[in-house]
Amino acid sequence: MKKERISFSYEVLDAAELLPQADRDLFKKAREVTRLAYAPYSRFFVGAAAVLQNGKVVTGTNQENASFPAGICAERVLLSAADSLYPGIPVLTLAISYFNKNNGKSGRPLAPCGICRQSLLEYEMRQQQPIRLLLGGMEGKIFVIDDVKALLPLYFSGSDMT
Ligand code: THU
Repeated sequence: MKKERISFSYEVLDAAELLPQADRDLFKKAREVTRLAYAPYSRFFVGAAAVLQNGKVVTGTNQENASFPAGICAERVLLSAADSLYPGIPVLTLAISYFNKNNGKSGRPLAPCGICRQSLLEYEMRQQQPIRLLLGGMEGKIFVIDDVKALLPLYFSGSDMT
């Protein structure tokens, strides 16, 4: 029997202030838009901000619904908005922050949910260049991940159907 191992590395910064200026500004934006989330049910407010290759910054927040499965995560709101406003323009870096109103905490970096990883991967494959992720909360450590694929080992994609 042959065993395979998949591993990935990512950067860990002690605080957003240690990011390079452009990333710091983007992360600040993600933190700012967090308060615009519509999250009356979970009270878990997520904000995302991305910079595109044309220099535009697009944001997204989670949008919940009384019919819970109809709600959408901030990351997918952002991706849909970005590709609708600027079709075909690659996303370079996407920052995600959050605030948990239930316990007032947001010190641990938030990693995108499984559905968002799948969506992010589709966008990354379409644009044929990596999407960098900056993950964090309103304070505390920041994770920098250079490629969405790292978050979804053994992923399923369109090429599996051809
Ligand atoms: N949520 C996001 O917006 N992004 C994530 O990566 C994780 C979860 C939202 C969905 C829902 O509105 C709330 O957070 C609680 O799950």
